[in-house]
Amino acid sequence: MYKSILFVCLGNICRSPAAEGVFLNKINKLGIQGEFKVDSAGTGGWHVGSHADARMREAALNRGVKINSRARQINMNDFHDFDLILTMDNSNLKDVRSLLKLVRDQPKAIVEPLLKYASKQNTIEVPDPYYGGAN
Ligand code: 4NP
Repeated sequence: MYKSILFVCLGNICRSPAAEGVFLNKINKLGIQGEFKVDSAGTGGWHVGSHADARMREAALNRGVKINSRARQINMNDFHDFDLILTMDNSNLKDVRSLLKLVRDQPKAIVEPLLKYASKQNTIEVPDPYYGGAN
């Protein structure tokens, strides 16, 4: 069973913090948070240190999820520190798999699209919400 999960999107201020927040919310409710290491990161570094986008934090809060993360960029240690790296869209998947190929020692992580695990399989990508409106 996977115990350490890193959620990855482009900026680490919208989709991956939301995925991380929802996952943390679920394992906290189940009382199994101690069994997991959970984090999120971006393939890009533009927003390093920032809170998640205010629109995403509000949308999450409306659904009972508090997002506390600060943005960081994925780094090569992540491939040794996490069992599972879940990407939001095909671009993230391509970028993270390119980095994976550069890992020197045997990496621990496997890299997959988040929505591979979704019950509704009508798309494999989480759309980028950054340039959309608030809802
Ligand atoms: P995210 O959304 O990848 O879901 O965090 C984005 C955030 C910022 C940018 C793009 C996407 N950006 O270009 O700054």
